[in-house]
Amino acid sequence: MKKNEILLQLDDVYQDVIEWRRYLHQNPELSFQEDHTSQFVYDLLESFGGFELSRPTKTSVVARLKGSKPGKVIALRADMDALPIREETGLPFTSTKDGVMHACGHDGHTSMLLGAAKILTEHKEDLSGEIVFLFQHAEELPPGGAQEMVAAGVLNGVDEVVGVHLFSTVPFGTIHIRYGALTAASDVFEISLQGKGGHASTPQLTIDPLATGAQIVTGLNHIVSRSIDPLQPSVVSVTKFKAGGLALNVIPDTVEIGGSVRTLSPEVRELVKNRIIEITEGIAKANGVEAKVNYTYGYSSVMNDKHVTDEVVQVLEEFLPDRTLEWVDPLLGGEDFSAFSNEKPGCFVIIGAGNEEKGITYPHHHPKFDIDEQALKDGLRFHVFTALTLTQQ
Ligand code: NI
Repeated sequence: MKKNEILLQLDDVYQDVIEWRRYLHQNPELSFQEDHTSQFVYDLLESFGGFELSRPTKTSVVARLKGSKPGKVIALRADMDALPIREETGLPFTSTKDGVMHACGHDGHTSMLLGAAKILTEHKEDLSGEIVFLFQHAEELPPGGAQEMVAAGVLNGVDEVVGVHLFSTVPFGTIHIRYGALTAASDVFEISLQGKGGHASTPQLTIDPLATGAQIVTGLNHIVSRSIDPLQPSVVSVTKFKAGGLALNVIPDTVEIGGSVRTLSPEVRELVKNRIIEITEGIAKANGVEAKVNYTYGYSSVMNDKHVTDEVVQVLEEFLPDRTLEWVDPLLGGEDFSAFSNEKPGCFVIIGAGNEEKGITYPHHHPKFDIDEQALKDGLRFHVFTALTLTQQ
């Protein structure tokens, strides 16, 4: 590997990466509507040359770069979509689309991976194996773009998949990683109760869904404390309870309950789901109320494979030795990289892009969200050396 030559190239291409990031930042597109963004990515990749390009879905792009020596097939992923947020950063390259903003750093992700593609295609002769660049649409909107790309076969023949997220809440210079679950599975549930309303003065003539609903909420709040291993993190939060109207002398007909579930293992996820259904149906039956439970799966946990994570840590230690690597607890946010890492062994890392001195401290999805552009170079370096190293092993 011509490490020094590549390091010099990184300095050059970093300037392109900043330019692309600013262009994408100015021209954000919502999930599943990344028409212009994906065309921009496709055209640039075509201009670099050397790739086998495809469009697995309407607004995603995949570029395959085949090396000339045998080796592993490594996929690198970047997400490309923006959010329905009105930007308030005041940046010179602020969004030109009212109410749409790159408020999660996906503009940076796309640009870093484009930069890596530009560098790696110039080293095609020395490459082992194959690199698959996944430019993914719709990370922000469940059911998400990743599972559509997987269904379209983008991981066929891939050995390992690696992804990156820039974080404004992690200081520039710091990189976060962990083995196993990095993010939580995040699901929602809705319960509708059908009783028989009536006058408050004659409860014996009604079937009261409100009193039943109250028992159900209490029951649901016991799931984590009574049914789940205390060493397995999980959350069940009831966040909605709708019943009754203006008249205080009326027992209502129906009640609507809803809430959110976060879990870190597939077993606990299934257990919580089953307990929600059993408790709701059991209490409803005891009270003669009809209950319907709708449980909707959101993104599952991003699982960092032990072996791939060890390889990635090696890359970080060798090629980003000037950065601080921290082993962290799981995050309870969702990330649809899980659709890739469920399919193939993978690793997802968090690259610090916050900077207090520059006032870059706002969290993701905030109208003043920004990233320290120095972090783009970390991501670029990470992608290039991950591809070069992992394909060889
Ligand atoms: Ni994001």
